[in-house]
Amino acid sequence: MNDPVYLYRGEVFYFKASPLDTDDFYCYFPDGLLVVSQGKIIETGTYQDIKDRYPETSITDYSGKLLMPGLIDSHVHYPQSEMIGMYGRQLLDWLNEYTYPTEEAFCNPEYAERVARFFVNELFRNGTTTCMAYATVHKESVDALFSVASGYNMQMLTGKVLMNRNAPQVLMDTEESGESDSRELIETWHKKGRNLYVITPRFSITSTHGQLISAARLHEEYPDTYVQTHLSENKNEIDSTLSLSPECTDYLEVYERAGLVTERAVFGHCIHLSDSECRRMAEAGAIIAHCPTSNLFLGSGLFDMQQANRINIRTTLATDVGGGTSFSLFRTMGEAYKVQQLNGYSMPVFESLYKCTRGTAKALKLDDKIGSFEQGREADFIVVDYAATPSQQIRKEYLERNGKWDLENKLFGIQTLGDDRNIRATYVAGNRVYLSDSGNHQETG
Ligand code: GUN
Ligand code: ZN
Repeated sequence: MNDPVYLYRGEVFYFKASPLDTDDFYCYFPDGLLVVSQGKIIETGTYQDIKDRYPETSITDYSGKLLMPGLIDSHVHYPQSEMIGMYGRQLLDWLNEYTYPTEEAFCNPEYAERVARFFVNELFRNGTTTCMAYATVHKESVDALFSVASGYNMQMLTGKVLMNRNAPQVLMDTEESGESDSRELIETWHKKGRNLYVITPRFSITSTHGQLISAARLHEEYPDTYVQTHLSENKNEIDSTLSLSPECTDYLEVYERAGLVTERAVFGHCIHLSDSECRRMAEAGAIIAHCPTSNLFLGSGLFDMQQANRINIRTTLATDVGGGTSFSLFRTMGEAYKVQQLNGYSMPVFESLYKCTRGTAKALKLDDKIGSFEQGREADFIVVDYAATPSQQIRKEYLERNGKWDLENKLFGIQTLGDDRNIRATYVAGNRVYLSDSGNHQETG
């Protein structure tokens, strides 16, 4: 018996390449079909070209809506879901007053599971199908998130936070326990289903050199894991870091000396990097996660995307919830645009969207699995309503009247005015995991 096939009709869009590298960087079928079987993409093309090959198969009709690969959030803290939007002033006050007390509760597995479930569903409601997330110092917090993600067969990257200094006693591990707990979690979860482990020293202020070395050792032992940490987010953080590591001339060197700057390492923020730090990151192939809503909310500074592009550093966009103020990567793209406006760079919407989809998948070496609709990719995709609000609707009518309702204007509207309200449906591995209440799609024979 043949495997069942599922057909989805709509405006099919995905990136073929980076808009920074070529002019021929996307595929777009205004009246397209997406063909899915066994949770994988079989093919895409125009409705006219493909429909007759599947005469017996019913079509889920999302005509007029955008079908695109699910969004990828490269830096987010799931335990901070509840403390989003707290009046925390700047980074170090905010960590001490809100973040650490909130994270203490994750020693309780039921509590961790409740928040993990909320978090994953909130990702789906916002069109995010993959994330690289921080858990807390507790092993239970990692078990909870991987378990919930496994229930949806979702591509999940996370890991236990390592912290052995300058944090509340109950949130600290030791060099030895941090390493052995991480190893145990890697053995349990890494590459089980779609789960991938991320070795997670929180940042230099909360990890001794010895702990950073142990993180690097673990990464060497399991070279297909990832590393995530924070770098150069806030001026006081940088001063504190350099006074804890007086032998280093800059912040990046703290991680370099430990051997943590590699092409599988994602560094959150990177706002105040020197040209030398940027060049060294590019040479190492390291990845930046730019988190604009967080950077504005915590007053951390304006990340310089042009500097990163010029020096050829792989850069992705991320929410950084709960320092970030929205789970929506559309909202995040809109804020990234405004941050770059203040730097004198009107970042094209194709660049920001690439940095939430195929660009992130490629940076994480997962582009053979996610981030596009090429044949054999996982069927992680979203259905986007261009006109979910009255102002989006009136803007659409205006552009239509003026003959300018083209792809770029459509996407720019999603970026500037869009959020969770624009997500009509979310699919993970071919299964629908979210459908908005206002969904009015139809099944047709
Ligand atoms: N630096 C160290 N920990 C954190 C965190 O939880 N959030 C942010 N934004 N920066 C950090
Ligand atoms: Zn963060």
